[in-house]
Amino acid sequence: MSSLIGKRCIISGGSRGIGLAIARLFAAEGAACTLIGRNMESLTSAKASLEQKHDSQKHDTTPFDVSLVNGWEKLVANTKGENADILVNAAGISQNSFLFKASTPEIDELVATNLMSTIWSCKYIIPKMMKQRNGCIINVSSLLATHGGRGSSVYAASKAGIIGLTRALAWEVGRFGIRANVLLPGYIQTDMTKGMDNNGELSALIPMGRLGLADEVAEAALFLAKCSYAHNCVLNIDGGLSAT
Ligand SMILES: NC(=O)c1ccc[n+]([C@@H]2O[C@H](COP(=O)([O-])OP(=O)(O)OC[C@H]3O[C@@H](n4cnc5c(N)ncnc54)[C@H](OP(=O)(O)O)[C@@H]3O)[C@@H](O)[C@H]2O)c1
Repeated sequence: MSSLIGKRCIISGGSRGIGLAIARLFAAEGAACTLIGRNMESLTSAKASLEQKHDSQKHDTTPFDVSLVNGWEKLVANTKGENADILVNAAGISQNSFLFKASTPEIDELVATNLMSTIWSCKYIIPKMMKQRNGCIINVSSLLATHGGRGSSVYAASKAGIIGLTRALAWEVGRFGIRANVLLPGYIQTDMTKGMDNNGELSALIPMGRLGLADEVAEAALFLAKCSYAHNCVLNIDGGLSAT
């Protein structure tokens, strides 16, 4: 298992929920984190919550809309000469509407935020990793990508795209010392799932009898970051929901 001390970790969606839990755990393991989100206030308080174990561990924030390619171009241009050791793509939005009812802008926004952002970040950060001959990509998909779900057609399609992207990348970049893996969380307690389990009906469907915690997803991400032979993993972290 390799250490995260001295590693630079770029985390989209690092201001809240799963992305922030990953940032907190990676920072506690010694990584310097760059947090990305749209809201400067939540980025600032997220950064303040990260542990700093040594002086060279400099956390920072970069506010931009991850669905726009120029945000990624700028990030890479502004960090020329700096390493990008770990890329976590956790920014995402969800959907709860049937495809035939969803508006074109809603569909565009969902695909751009969940899938295109992951494509753009990988496209622009992989060349940095190739120069280093080292890197680790952790993309956050969803159990709905493989299982579908009522009212989640576009979301499921965007998340299935992330699995396809990650698996193809694993083949393309492995020879450059870059590992690519994907997490498939089930239902996790964050802003995204607020109010979904008020009467316990959702918990009742999950073999472990409860929603997962963002910290539990972060532990799975840490395994992927540290295990030097973890490559092309498609890792369910769903309390057993995929077994039902
Ligand atoms: N919670 C679950 O049950 C669950 C299950 C499976 C998969 N997932 C996936 O896990 C990831 C994290 O979800 P979460 O539950 O932690 O959600 P969350 O608490 O709602 O957090 C979403 C994060 O994404 C950022 N974000 C959203 N749109 C963005 C944009 N256009 N540009 C930049 N940042 C953006 C948000 O920051 P700002 O809003 O400030 O921009 C925030 O940091 C998502 O990809 C989600 O699809 C979640």
